Amino acid sequence: MNRIVIVILLLVEISCSSQQEQDYLQLNSPSNTVNVSVGLDEKGNPYYTAQYGSKTVADTSKLGFLLDKGDLQSGLKIIGSSTSTFDETWEQPWGEERMIRNNCQELIVQFENREGIKYNVVFRAFDDGYAFRYEFPKQEKLLNFSVIDEVSEFKMSDDHPSWSIPAYHGNRYEYIYDHKPISELDMVHTPFTVEATNGLFFHIHEAALYDYSSMVIKNTGNNVLKCDLVPLSKSDPTKSYLTAPFKTPWRTVQIGEQPGDLITNYMILNLNEPNKLGDVSFVKPGKYIGVWWEMFIGVGTWHQGSKHAANTANVKKYIDFASANGFDGVLVEGWNYGWDGPWMGGGTKFEFTKPYPDFDVKELSKYAADRNVYIIGHHETGADIENYESQLEQSFQFLEDHGMKAVKTGYVENGDTLPNGYYHHGQYFVQHFQRVIETGARHKTMIVAHEPIKDTGKRRTYPNMVSREGAKGQEYNAMGGNPTEHVTVIPFTRNLAGPFDYTPGVFDILLKTREGEQVETTIGKELALYTVIYAPMMMANDLPENYEGHPAFEYIKSVPTDWEQTKVLNGEIGKYVTIARQERQGSDWFIGGVTDKEARTIDIKFDFLEAGKSYKATVFSDADDTHYIDNPTAYDIKDYDVNNESTLSLKMAPGGGFAIRVLLQ
Ligand code: NOJ
Ligand code: CA
Repeated sequence: MNRIVIVILLLVEISCSSQQEQDYLQLNSPSNTVNVSVGLDEKGNPYYTAQYGSKTVADTSKLGFLLDKGDLQSGLKIIGSSTSTFDETWEQPWGEERMIRNNCQELIVQFENREGIKYNVVFRAFDDGYAFRYEFPKQEKLLNFSVIDEVSEFKMSDDHPSWSIPAYHGNRYEYIYDHKPISELDMVHTPFTVEATNGLFFHIHEAALYDYSSMVIKNTGNNVLKCDLVPLSKSDPTKSYLTAPFKTPWRTVQIGEQPGDLITNYMILNLNEPNKLGDVSFVKPGKYIGVWWEMFIGVGTWHQGSKHAANTANVKKYIDFASANGFDGVLVEGWNYGWDGPWMGGGTKFEFTKPYPDFDVKELSKYAADRNVYIIGHHETGADIENYESQLEQSFQFLEDHGMKAVKTGYVENGDTLPNGYYHHGQYFVQHFQRVIETGARHKTMIVAHEPIKDTGKRRTYPNMVSREGAKGQEYNAMGGNPTEHVTVIPFTRNLAGPFDYTPGVFDILLKTREGEQVETTIGKELALYTVIYAPMMMANDLPENYEGHPAFEYIKSVPTDWEQTKVLNGEIGKYVTIARQERQGSDWFIGGVTDKEARTIDIKFDFLEAGKSYKATVFSDADDTHYIDNPTAYDIKDYDVNNESTLSLKMAPGGGFAIRVLLQ
């Protein structure tokens, strides 16, 4: 792999003589677009500010900690600092962009408190964002310690409008995004997206979350947003138990002049360590179908009985369909013991190596392999981590023994704590999640996690951690429904963290088995989601029979899931967005556009195509009379000759969308 193209590393030790000089340090991004200053106020309280050109991103914002071993937020002095420059371009083994440039300036500020406890704050300034993390060096006064509070702040310059989902609300990350000014927020999850009144767009998140609790954003008033670490459990409010040396996750702020700039900003990946797994040729992006949606629409069940869906004959039907249509995997849920009783809340214990009697795992694994398809295993844990961990090694061995190259994990529970009382997003679960990633890597298994810990870019370090849910996905369209504009928000919020297993592709939008219910979408919009939402493993969620005879299925069959480059052609958060992606190592492009309840006509300029080349664009769009409520399944397919000077004007129906396949001629 063509890993590092250029690396420049400069290390300059700055040791200032006078106290005055030590109390204020400046960090500029490589092209001087982002400027961060870090300092101490007159009480020795550390703070930083961040600017993007002349616009404020963060006003004077606090830094520091309250630990069981001491106060690290006041009475500090700066005892040293250093700066470095990084410029490297690295290749993703898979992803939305093949080559990624990591170009930033770093400033390390060393603080010491009154009792002589030392810690560093490391800042990095990129041209489109900044990040900081804390480092606790090993020292006698700080061996084992616990975090009572991390005081990191993001002080906004105004009461900006923002997009968020609530934290501590019991349904993990599965909420519709709220569009609210900061003053109306309580506690919210990240990625937290801000439409600043000064015209900037930015989002707050974190990178490289290991051995530490997740960061929630708390509105503390006066436009101050503060890091609120998820406590360990309802009975133990400690935020994290740590051992020095320790580095916290990065607190990240990615900045754009247009909403789409946030989507093509790869700072979070750059803040994660390079691939630690070596040969990751076992990680292959792909598409899958599954014995899944039929449970949601009441045709089948996970548990045993007359409608048990994961039976050998039914799974063979899915394998045949996958094989005939070029899918890589077939997800099978409800294949193992544990579903027959109350499986949430630590009730029935799932068994991850014991198939139900009507699921012939040996025969099916062979049947799949003979047809160039693999079964995607399923580990629904009911959030009973102890039960899962007691079988972890054997569970992954079982997957490997049966050629199951990927597993979907799941952590459904009631409320915002696991059955054992620990918080779903606290340090305990973060550590468990990592053990699963590493076990998966040892068994060459790709992981798609539902009810996960949020994505913080670990896929760079552990490329087998391919995708996750962590938002309201398609499943909610059989559980009350997502408003049609949900998918116009997702690319600017949840998807900024990393791949999202949304599971698009519903074609039976009127849900013939669910009287009086339908999905708020159109077929054109479902096709668009294969590029509007990014994930390297993409599902076609509907039943095989619902795709039969549909010319639009051709698009799902042909769309790749691994990309050379990504371009956002337009977009307004919560209204519409169009995203174009070029096939990895290929010349063809795939484009998707979606709208909210409004019908829209948008112009697509093909100026990103290679000059002097001719392409055939096949447009799968809403028909003239399509409407997400009254006529959601009508669509048109038309061909156009295009080159890099062409423009196409495309109509999206209310709640609709389009997909375009652009093939080099
Ligand atoms: C919730 C997951 O998101 C869904 O995909 C899965 O089918 C159910 N849990 C059952 O495991
Ligand atoms: Ca879910």
